[in-house]
Amino acid sequence: MQSTDSTLIPSAIFKLIITLALQLRTLPTLAALSLCRNSCGSIAIKYPFGLDDGCGAPQFRHMLNCTTDLFFTTPSGIYKVQSIDYDKKSMVIYDPAMSTCSILQPHHDFLMTPIQSIIIPPTSDTVFALLNCSIDSPVLNHYKNLCFNFSGHSCDELYGPCNAFRVFHLLSNSSPPCCFTGYDTVKYMSMDILDCSHYTTVINTDDLKGMGPLDWVYGIKLTFSVADTGCERCEQSGGSCGFDTETEGLVCLCSSYMNSTRECAAGSITAEGQSHGPPRLLFQALVLILGTFLRMMTLS
Ligand SMILES: *[C@@H]1O[C@H](CO)[C@@H](O)[C@H](O)[C@H]1NC(C)=O
Ligand SMILES: *[C@@H]1O[C@H](CO)[C@@H](O)[C@H](O)[C@H]1NC(C)=O
Ligand SMILES: *[C@@H]1O[C@H](CO)[C@@H](O)[C@H](O)[C@H]1NC(C)=O
Ligand SMILES: *[C@@H]1O[C@H](CO)[C@@H](O)[C@H](O)[C@H]1NC(C)=O
Repeated sequence: MQSTDSTLIPSAIFKLIITLALQLRTLPTLAALSLCRNSCGSIAIKYPFGLDDGCGAPQFRHMLNCTTDLFFTTPSGIYKVQSIDYDKKSMVIYDPAMSTCSILQPHHDFLMTPIQSIIIPPTSDTVFALLNCSIDSPVLNHYKNLCFNFSGHSCDELYGPCNAFRVFHLLSNSSPPCCFTGYDTVKYMSMDILDCSHYTTVINTDDLKGMGPLDWVYGIKLTFSVADTGCERCEQSGGSCGFDTETEGLVCLCSSYMNSTRECAAGSITAEGQSHGPPRLLFQALVLILGTFLRMMTLS
């Protein structure tokens, strides 16, 4: 009787040790998985942007979405992100529903939230081309001075070589009025108020001297600004900058089981940038169980 008991108990403890040892191996993997994703496809995601809620700067919350590609969301739609330049602090987005030189699509507005138009507005070298405007359009009358030419180009150039816009010319047998203008114009006046049936946007307009509309780059370039919130200090200590999802207060995310207000504590960071707090506790528990196990062995 006694001999069977003394062999059963150690085997149960042995199983427990194996289970604990397996948990010890998987814990750091789980921690790495739950930290902020740092890319979407080939596009790097860094501060102030974040894909996971609580990552990046709170002002940029809910703006990016990574499904098959990276998308930027505004009240007027979901735009494909083509590139982000963290040195120049710019992001190029493309509206698949926008008309370009080669495709005519139904009209719609480009809208941003009030916060977006302050922290990530279109750059000054992003030109909005308003096309097929009525002669009563404000930009042909009271707000005429909002229209300009860029790099030697005037807007009626778009009616000639562009298959998409030639239709305006054909229908009226003359070029309907148009206007090259900046984001502020469309920010304050909707397309209905502007009384133009279509728009397209052209980027890098300072570099387009001598090039025809077929070779222009269509899209919207945004420029983002980041307040200095001490994020560098957090990143240098091995953390990712984030925020509390309830209070939106800034947090330095060190690992899935440790946050700090400013930076990750030096002692808890290993070469892989992971804290070893809880695994160390598990290790102590293991030692304790092993000790008990050995004592039982010597007793029997
Ligand atoms: C993410 O983008 C897709 C478009 O690919 C959209 O259908 C979805 O609603 C978006 N999700 C959020 C949370 O914005
Ligand atoms: C051009 O604008 C007029 C209104 O000014 C509109 O009736 C017409 O449908 C527009 N053309 C196209 C091709 O949408
Ligand atoms: C733009 O250029 C066209 C053609 O050269 C000219 O007729 C027009 O007055 C110019 N518009 C502005 C606002 O300078
Ligand atoms: C750390 O902060 C993130 C973002 O607010 C939150 O999701 C996570 O639960 C926090 N972790 C801890 C251990 O407080």
